[in-house]
Amino acid sequence: MTTHENEHAALLAEAELFIEQCYSELDLTEKETRSRIGEIALEIERTGTYTHTFDELRHGARMAWRNSNRCIGRLPWDSLHVLDRRDADSEEEIAQALLDHLDFATNGGRIRPTITILKPESGNSPGARVWNEQLIRYAGYETPNGGRIGDPVSLEFTRLCEKMGWRGKRSDFDVLPLVIQLDGGAPKWFELPADKVLEVDIRHPELAGFDELRLKWYAVPAVSGMRLEIGGIRYGGAPFNGWYMGTEIGARNFADENRYNLLPAVADLMGLDRGRRSSLWQDRALVELNVAVLESYRAAGVSMVDHHTAAAQFETFEKREREAGRDVTGNWAWLIPPMSPATTHVFHKRYDNTIVKPNFFYAKKPYAGLLTGFEDGTRAESGTNGAAAEKETGAPVGVCPVTGASGGMASASDLPPSAPRAESESKRGCPFH
Ligand code: ARG
Repeated sequence: MTTHENEHAALLAEAELFIEQCYSELDLTEKETRSRIGEIALEIERTGTYTHTFDELRHGARMAWRNSNRCIGRLPWDSLHVLDRRDADSEEEIAQALLDHLDFATNGGRIRPTITILKPESGNSPGARVWNEQLIRYAGYETPNGGRIGDPVSLEFTRLCEKMGWRGKRSDFDVLPLVIQLDGGAPKWFELPADKVLEVDIRHPELAGFDELRLKWYAVPAVSGMRLEIGGIRYGGAPFNGWYMGTEIGARNFADENRYNLLPAVADLMGLDRGRRSSLWQDRALVELNVAVLESYRAAGVSMVDHHTAAAQFETFEKREREAGRDVTGNWAWLIPPMSPATTHVFHKRYDNTIVKPNFFYAKKPYAGLLTGFEDGTRAESGTNGAAAEKETGAPVGVCPVTGASGGMASASDLPPSAPRAESESKRGCPFH
């Protein structure tokens, strides 16, 4: 067989597996299944690829969420809203599709789990790519004297945006522009209008001085840096969102030393003794920070789940899947919340971390190595071949719309519950990264 024939056979095999499972879950007949597979076989032979029907796309995306091992928020997988924008054929149209996504998903605060599916890869073309890790994220800057402004997780991407001509205000909460690339062409950036970005001011119901920290966070976590794979078709642009679990913000984004690093400031407001670790100042500050996050989203009428409720919902998900005759796969190190994990049932169980498709996968950052190019005087346009950059980073990891993740570290994924926890970013992304 030629390479082409091999590729076609491999694609058809993946398509067949998917169509069989999808059609059986959708209660379609054996005859419909066979006839669709025949049709796909012909299309692959003729064109080298095939096109999902809307029903296949919708159910495939929902299955991908259901299979996201890191996501504790999978219970509503079957109600994921699927916006089919495979037709968007310019960077401008894609930008508009992403703004539409934010409008639809934000829904005035009653967040709707939503995925927008853009043009897939086909042949040598990488299709649509969104370079942002999330549609909404805050910029991060290093000051000349070694200080930091904003979210350090975005340092590299922020530098890239500025090299492309965007200029941030240098506040701690500058919303980054969208960076979109189509078919391996030059990426284009688009400012995100403020009216598309719902934000919540974070206040504490009692703690004096807390509000002067002037904290806020955005409402909709929309992971855009992952590839969706359904039946052998790779959608490199498929941003998806759920709603936040409070700890993602309160116990990670605000608390991690390499993020906003706010525990010392909160502990000081509380008058705690930071001279001794055994005063548990970190733990006590963490609780109040998380109370502030949950109470603020509640007061603002923006969907958010606390980690106890999320775990209880996950238990319901596990039960329903058992009843449907399916195995639940999961990644323990990501499923347990980063605060009081042993108060949830998840902590006391083991999960099988097998990767089942359809699923979401990390792709290498499309701009990896590009900044060096810029510094050499290379322009964005010339260094930006999506196809060349799209090499896998290693083991695929599922993530969920409700707990998607960005940043592709999977190192803690195989730890048994009793093993010492790997530090830092390695652990969370999705639900909680
Ligand atoms: N953990 C990421 C963040 O804090 C968001 C990942 C997706 N989370 C979600 N609940 N869907 O921004």
